[in-house]
Amino acid sequence: MAIPTSPKERNLNATGVVAAAVVPAAGRGERLGPGAPKALRELGGVPLLVHAVRALARSRAVGLVVVAAPADGVAEVVALLDSHGLDGKDIRVVAGGATRQESVRLGLAAVPAEVEVVLVHDAARPLVPVDVVDAVAAAVRAGADAVVPGVPLADTVKRVRPQTGGGPEPVLDTPDRATLRAVQTPQGFRHTTLSEVHEKALAEEAGGTMPPVTDDAGLVEHFGGQVVVVPGHEEAFKVTRPIDLVLAEAVLARRRASDGF
Ligand code: CTP
Ligand code: MG
Repeated sequence: MAIPTSPKERNLNATGVVAAAVVPAAGRGERLGPGAPKALRELGGVPLLVHAVRALARSRAVGLVVVAAPADGVAEVVALLDSHGLDGKDIRVVAGGATRQESVRLGLAAVPAEVEVVLVHDAARPLVPVDVVDAVAAAVRAGADAVVPGVPLADTVKRVRPQTGGGPEPVLDTPDRATLRAVQTPQGFRHTTLSEVHEKALAEEAGGTMPPVTDDAGLVEHFGGQVVVVPGHEEAFKVTRPIDLVLAEAVLARRRASDGF
């Protein structure tokens, strides 16, 4: 093992647990269509959530995984994770909330205070390569407060004035694509930073002044923190619509064929 170089790294090593991962898995998966909650839908015969937890557990950086399950499905998720033999890592399950942000907050509450690095990873990104998990954790350990994996965009992106009812939408402008990144998970944070922005967001929501924010890094940005992007991976895509499951099955089949994954 490398000799710890910074006080922060020494502290992290001393805890025994380098990083915890919070996995929001309480969504219904409306866009995927009717069926079981998305995290429990199968990919290659294994639930998306199990793939996602395995992907995190494969990283030596991760010592604890906290899953935020559908509130009415906690016992089912506990049984599921048990039956898939995810030994060797500390895995806990809590009830998630009505929004992704609430699910993350509830999961975060189960992370012990002495854990200094927290990753947040969507259950809906089952195929994230372990290299991405490692790279995000390493960037936080190296001193960043908030780290997101991102990839360049293939499509040109236009900002529009949205029209209800499917009418033509006037274009406002076209951001320079070279400056855009599609961001993925796991997103990594100093534990204190992530807890602080979630608490502040809750307070601002109560006051009715919180704008919509769709990821944890967005909360850090909103409260003035610095977020950095590290290279993500095309296989870390989110299973959102039915076509994504088709793609995920193909990626999994290719992996199984090439390395017995
Ligand atoms: N999530 C959650 N709690 C919620 C809503 C979402 O934990 N109340 C989780 C999902 O389970 C998913 C991740 O947040 O792992 C990303 O959200 P998304 O892809 O939007 O999943 P769903 O909300 O389930 O899907 P949809 O928006 O199509 O209903
Ligand atoms: Mg959603």
